Amino acid sequence: MMAIRPERAGDEAGIRGVHLAAFPSALEAELVDRLRGAGRAAVSLVAEMERGIVGHVLFSPVTVAGGGAPEGGVGLAPLAVLPDLQGRGVGSALARRGIEACRGAGYAFAVVLGEPGYYARFGFKKASLYGLGNEYAADEAFMAMELAEHALSRARGVVRYSPEFDLFKA
Ligand SMILES: CC(C)(COP(=O)(O)OP(=O)(O)OC[C@H]1O[C@@H](n2cnc3c(N)ncnc32)[C@H](O)[C@@H]1OP(=O)(O)O)[C@@H](O)C(=O)NCCC(=O)NCCS
Repeated sequence: MMAIRPERAGDEAGIRGVHLAAFPSALEAELVDRLRGAGRAAVSLVAEMERGIVGHVLFSPVTVAGGGAPEGGVGLAPLAVLPDLQGRGVGSALARRGIEACRGAGYAFAVVLGEPGYYARFGFKKASLYGLGNEYAADEAFMAMELAEHALSRARGVVRYSPEFDLFKA
């Protein structure tokens, strides 16, 4: 049995363990701790089984710099599932439930930097189709989706993640 639920106090080590196991470096685990510490874990969900926390997804607020800047954006990052449980739908369930939680919390749009073949299934499209650029020189891999109808219909600008993400620029 697997449950998906919001992160709560006491989950920190389990979440850290998932990211350390799923990613080649400790940057994602560090990012999660920094975002939580800064109060920027807008939506944080865990997948839990009898053995403990097996997956985690985090969404943090993003801003858009520029003229027609839409407000109320969140960025999906990171998303991870323990290696021995990958490919069984856990990541998809976390992404879907997380997107719904962001919509429920009133966020207007979401962005993600990742594999287009994976994230398209949740409704993400190439962000440049919405006039949104990114700071990472990503093309197809930078994607966006509207959580509120027409939230990005007149969008224009460069999406900026919170300062905790500078970890990846060093
Ligand atoms: C990416 C990740 C979260 C997906 O979770 P998951 O539970 O394994 O994925 P699901 O079982 O929900 O989905 C499986 C599908 O995703 C595809 N998939 C899995 N990982 C993928 C990846 N890195 N790139 C592209 N597609 C991927 C599988 O091929 C499969 O496709 P199909 O449904 O067309 O057969 C997980 O594999 C993971 O933790 N990877 C390491 C960390 C990472 O790269 N995170 C994403 C960047 S933030």
